[in-house]
Amino acid sequence: MFTHHSSSFHLHCIIISLHLLLLLPCDHAQDFKTYYENCYKNFSCGGRIKEIGYPFWGGDRPYYCGLPSFKLSCKDDEFAVLDTGLNYTFRVFGIDQTSHEIKISRGDLQADSCPSQIFNGTLDKKLFDYGAQTEDLNMFYNCSSDTKIRPENPSLRDNATCTSRDSGLKDIVFFGNESFPVYHFDALISCKVKIVVPVDKTVVADFKRNATKELDELLNPSFDVYYKMNDYACNACKSWGGLCWSGFDLSKLTCLCQDGAYDHPCKQGVFLVFFYSTV
Ligand SMILES: *[C@@H]1O[C@H](CO)[C@@H](O)[C@H](O)[C@H]1NC(C)=O
Ligand SMILES: *[C@@H]1O[C@H](CO)[C@@H](O)[C@H](O)[C@H]1NC(C)=O
Ligand SMILES: *[C@@H]1O[C@H](CO)[C@@H](O)[C@H](O)[C@H]1NC(C)=O
Ligand SMILES: *[C@@H]1O[C@H](CO)[C@@H](O)[C@H](O)[C@H]1NC(C)=O
Ligand SMILES: *[C@@H]1O[C@H](CO)[C@@H](O)[C@H](O)[C@H]1NC(C)=O
Ligand SMILES: *[C@@H]1O[C@H](CO)[C@@H](O)[C@H](O)[C@H]1NC(C)=O
Ligand SMILES: *[C@@H]1O[C@H](CO)[C@@H](O)[C@H](O)[C@H]1NC(C)=O
Repeated sequence: MFTHHSSSFHLHCIIISLHLLLLLPCDHAQDFKTYYENCYKNFSCGGRIKEIGYPFWGGDRPYYCGLPSFKLSCKDDEFAVLDTGLNYTFRVFGIDQTSHEIKISRGDLQADSCPSQIFNGTLDKKLFDYGAQTEDLNMFYNCSSDTKIRPENPSLRDNATCTSRDSGLKDIVFFGNESFPVYHFDALISCKVKIVVPVDKTVVADFKRNATKELDELLNPSFDVYYKMNDYACNACKSWGGLCWSGFDLSKLTCLCQDGAYDHPCKQGVFLVFFYSTV
């Protein structure tokens, strides 16, 4: 197995040696063979997450096999956790490598829907697109006790009680879509904490109609997002035995082969010879 340290040294060594016209005594072929062997491994966790490759890494896949925002780990051999580099992680319910759809929910709010420290945030729009059923929900915590919202539709709820798992303190949380903070600006001005959380539209609609549902039932279900990736280049690479890779330059997708990393599929030479010899 590679350690974190030695593998980063190897990458460094190759980058420098390419610039110095291969003057450094690096065993390149052996390095690429190792990268290839390590990155050929997939990530699997529990029953639902199987054979996951680029741009994800984690588990048996070293960091250089994927992109930094796509780190996976496996919790209790039961469910996968995605760390995109924010102050919280996501619980992963499913990854579809063909459509790029991933089903996730906020792991921190799953553990405690009323935490003492709460983080804002939606996903990086440069890396992820929301699914058609996903929307941002505005949530207001720690509002003054006399906060009163005049509901637009009295049969739809816009608040929920939560109890902090740590402190046992109860709080009333007000929530609504993007027009909610604008419409109720005066009423919500006392609220000390505001966050935005992606949620599934159907889950919100069901929650608003049902006064007995607990806040967990709004925040625990998964929502859909799509990760962005160049499928065309990646599929061409894979169809010739290569692995999609950004090991040297995170902004660039290359094709990792047993003997090097290229901006074309591994067997292009063979393919060309074959092509010309059959014309
Ligand atoms: C990883 O997944 C790919 C695509 O599903 C598959 O071709 C490859 O054999 C898997 N690697 C291992 C080590 O099972
Ligand atoms: C994470 O939380 C810390 C402390 O609350 C904050 O300073 C930092 O900006 C946060 N980072 C992100 C990416 O939100
Ligand atoms: C809300 O206020 C309580 C009491 O002041 C505090 O302990 C808690 O951390 C606050 N909640 C958030 C989400 O900031
Ligand atoms: C979350 O972001 C909004 C603006 O997008 C900001 O008004 C709010 O204060 C942020 N909340 C926290 C807890 O950082
Ligand atoms: C919370 O919602 C319920 C149901 O819509 C409503 O009866 C109640 O007055 C609301 N509580 C506050 C503090 O607004
Ligand atoms: C936001 O919610 C309000 C009240 O529930 C509704 O009337 C409005 O159509 C919603 N807006 C969007 C953009 O979904
Ligand atoms: C309301 O939610 C509770 C808790 O999830 C559920 O048991 C109940 O069946 C729901 N009621 C309706 C009318 O959907």
